[in-house]
Amino acid sequence: MIKANVLVDRDFAIGDTDPRLFGAFIEHLGRCVYEGIYEPGHPKADKRGFRQDVLELVRELAPTIMRYPGGNFVSGYNWEDGVGPAKDRPRRLDLAWMTTEPNTFGTNEFIDWCKAASIEPMLAVNLGTRGADAARNLVEYCNHPGGTAWSDLRRKHGWKDPHGVKFWCLGNEMDGPWQMEAKTATEYGRVAVEAAKMMRWIDPSIELAACGSSGRNMPTFGQWEDTVLDHCFDQVEYISLHTYLNDYAKDTPAFLASPDLMDSFIEEVVAIADAVAAKRRSRKRIMLSFDEWNVWYRTRRNRKERVKEGWPVAPPILEEIYTMKDALAFGGMCISLLNHCDRVRVACLAQLVNVIAPIMTETGGAAWRQTIFHPFAQWSRHGRGRVLRARVSVPGYAARYFDPRGPVDQYFPVDEAPWLKMAAVADAAGGLNLFLLNRHLKQELSVDLRARGFGGLAVAGAETMRHDNLEATNSAKSPNRVAPKALAGVRVDGDRVRAVLPAASWSVVRLAAQA
Ligand code: AHR
Repeated sequence: MIKANVLVDRDFAIGDTDPRLFGAFIEHLGRCVYEGIYEPGHPKADKRGFRQDVLELVRELAPTIMRYPGGNFVSGYNWEDGVGPAKDRPRRLDLAWMTTEPNTFGTNEFIDWCKAASIEPMLAVNLGTRGADAARNLVEYCNHPGGTAWSDLRRKHGWKDPHGVKFWCLGNEMDGPWQMEAKTATEYGRVAVEAAKMMRWIDPSIELAACGSSGRNMPTFGQWEDTVLDHCFDQVEYISLHTYLNDYAKDTPAFLASPDLMDSFIEEVVAIADAVAAKRRSRKRIMLSFDEWNVWYRTRRNRKERVKEGWPVAPPILEEIYTMKDALAFGGMCISLLNHCDRVRVACLAQLVNVIAPIMTETGGAAWRQTIFHPFAQWSRHGRGRVLRARVSVPGYAARYFDPRGPVDQYFPVDEAPWLKMAAVADAAGGLNLFLLNRHLKQELSVDLRARGFGGLAVAGAETMRHDNLEATNSAKSPNRVAPKALAGVRVDGDRVRAVLPAASWSVVRLAAQA
């Protein structure tokens, strides 16, 4: 058995989580919108076509903010195509995914869906094939009360009150050659700052995120952030980050170590953003919007494969079926985000339904939870509060993580991945919630934690997720094959907490202040 000693102190905090840390993402991609959240004619759809069974699962998942409409899709999107009477909306070729976009769901339907789900909307503007002019018009359409052509058009379309969208992404992954009208950092920095300026002139209350590099593995990474922020520093509040972890190498220990590379990525982007601030002698701090994160590798496709399918509407693409092992790496990502909550203020799980998603649906049929659903739901429900700086004393291991999209060396070393990866969150009621990943595949891990400053604690709940088969998945027929179960044997004595974590497990221990 591996032993971990942990010390947390109520007064030693990393920061308070922003509610927007627990977001997700809906793109016009595959069956995410069509046959995912929106399926007119489905027995469980309401009169707007919103699937109520999916909405119920979304409420259980509890994302707080939803990014839309892309993703790669947004770089070719004419937002005007998606508003007005549905029968008049054009069908268009979508060059991001080589499909046909029917445009029967658009911005107004998205806003209504967010209202139905009690989720804050986040909109991305097209800075690929469009630019600052289309972006500012969309802000006017959405947020201006009335009395102008665009705002009156919204009213004519049936939405009298402004949508009041606060959070806007300035394009998507603009350094990616796969993007429609990809840009150099200077080209993007210029268009982003001008778009930001005009969007904010229309609605000074909005918050803006500039595109960071599409990944840490991009040759552009680093220089891109530096140049873009040199242009946009005064006009944006956030820079974006994207990460998809993989296990192409079938090296489970390296896969489970790879969330630690997300920690490095975050710290590197913080360093670059703060260096830009330092050059300007500015005390402003650019925050991070991790607006795409997940595990994704089995269903990646290149354009040649996509084009063979002949421009289908809502094809079942990127329908990654997640395993127990994926849920462990995913849980590690949740922990990384919590432990950087002072700078990562916003994050979006990519995506929500069917497309690399926690929720799956059958067209005309059932909806169910994938393995990754569970860590997200626990994290979103119990991860809100003050994240404490945990001192974890535990042995670890070295790993080499393979990323085929890496610029030079396709292996990224993790020098020492502690067997226990964890986060500790103090809640407003004096309780403490622990998120615990035992990365050892064979051995249990005993945690002995001292919660200094908490006085008496009592177990309010303890759950663990593990499976004898790390490749186990959920499906429409077996929707609960991989799910959290009670974690027995958690003991609390004053401010000491002891628990034994099964090998290769994700656990959440909730401790309440004793009355
Ligand atoms: O989430 C799937 C895709 O991954 C998004 O469209 C894109 O932004 C990223 O490359």
